[in-house]
Amino acid sequence: MKYRVTVLPGDGVGPEVMAEGMKVLDAVAKKFGHTFKLEYELIGAVAIDKTDSALPDETLKMCKKSDAVMLAAVGDPRYDDPKLPVHPEDGLLALRKGLGLFANIRPVKVFDELVNASTLKPEVLRGTDFIFVRELTGGVYFAKPKKQWITAKGRKATDSMTYTEQEIERIVRVGFELARSRKKRLVSVDKANVLKSSRLWRQVAIEVSKDYPDVALSHVLVDACAMQLIRTPTVFDVIVTENLFGDILTDEAAQLAGSMGMLPSASLAGIPESGKQTFGLFEPIHGSAPSIAGKDIANPVATILTVAMMLRYSLALEKEAASIEKAVEIVLKQGYRTDDIMAAGNTRVGTKQIGDLIAAEV
Ligand code: IPM
Ligand code: MN
Repeated sequence: MKYRVTVLPGDGVGPEVMAEGMKVLDAVAKKFGHTFKLEYELIGAVAIDKTDSALPDETLKMCKKSDAVMLAAVGDPRYDDPKLPVHPEDGLLALRKGLGLFANIRPVKVFDELVNASTLKPEVLRGTDFIFVRELTGGVYFAKPKKQWITAKGRKATDSMTYTEQEIERIVRVGFELARSRKKRLVSVDKANVLKSSRLWRQVAIEVSKDYPDVALSHVLVDACAMQLIRTPTVFDVIVTENLFGDILTDEAAQLAGSMGMLPSASLAGIPESGKQTFGLFEPIHGSAPSIAGKDIANPVATILTVAMMLRYSLALEKEAASIEKAVEIVLKQGYRTDDIMAAGNTRVGTKQIGDLIAAEV
C-alpha cells in the first residue's frame, strides 16, 4: 500500500532523531513492500526563521492531506525570551488544536534491559507497563483569556483551567476503551480536593464509567499520583488526566524508562480502533534538547518507537509496528546504548549508529 506522511523534524535534536526514525520506516517499507510518500515541512523555530510563523499555513494544509504526521521536537533558546510575540512551542499547540487531536497516548514501558538505566531501583521498575491518556486540546494550555496586563498594583497574568463536560467525556472514553483492551483498570487523575474543573472531571468520569461496567475506575489526586509513580509504578495500567497534569506526570514517568529519549506518543482525534486507520500526529515526548543538538549523541529510540505507534494507530499496520518494537528490544538486549541510558558493561553508540542497528534488525 501507499501512504502519505508529513514529516516535521523541527528544532534542536529533532532533525537528527527524525532521520533515524525515517531510516527505520524505510527498512519497514522494503521488508513489507509499502510505499511511504514523505513530505517535509517546517514547524517551530525553523519555521519562525523562514516565515515568521511557528506553524505556516502550508504545513497545516499538508498535514491535513496526509494519512499521518510525524513530528520530532520544537523549541530553541533563541526564542526563549518571554517578551517575544511568538514562540516555537506555539506551532505545536496550534497544530494539535488545528487537527483536533485531543487524545495524547503515552505508553510507559520499562524494558527489562534498561532497569539499570534509571536512578530508581531495578526491583521497583521491573514489569512497569502502563499508558497515560493525556487530554491535549483543553485546560490551561488553551485558556481564554490567556494574557498578561498591568494593574494599578503591578503586572498580572492569567491562564485559567476550564473544561466542558464534552471535553472530559471524550477523553475519559479513550481511557476506558484502552483499559478495556488491557487489564481493565482505569485511574483518573485530578485535583478534586481543590479545583472545580477537577470536580467536574470526577463527576463525568463516574458517569461514563456506567458504560464500562467491566472496567474498574479509581480516582487519584495528582500530587499522590506523582508520588505513587515512583514508589510503585507497577500498580498502574491506564491513567487518564487533563493536559497540564499529564504533561508533568509523563516527564516524571519517562525517568522510569531510564530517559526522556525512550518514550513515544500518539495524538489522535478519536478512539483508535484496531484494524482501522485513524489520523494522528506522532511525536516523542522529549523536547528539542538544544544542548546536545548536532553532536550525534541524542537517543533516537523514542522517535523510532513513535514510528511504530504511527504504523499501528494511523496506518493500521500492526505487524510492521511490532517488527520495529522487536528490533529495538533486540538491539538493547545486545547492549548498545546512547549516552543517556548507558550503564556498566554497555557499548556506547551514537544516534546514527543505533538507528542503523535497529533498521538492520527490522
Ligand atoms: C510535550 C511538550 C509540549 C507540551 C511543549 C513543547 C509545548 O512538553 O509534548 O509534552 O507541553 O505539551
Ligand atoms: Mn512535556
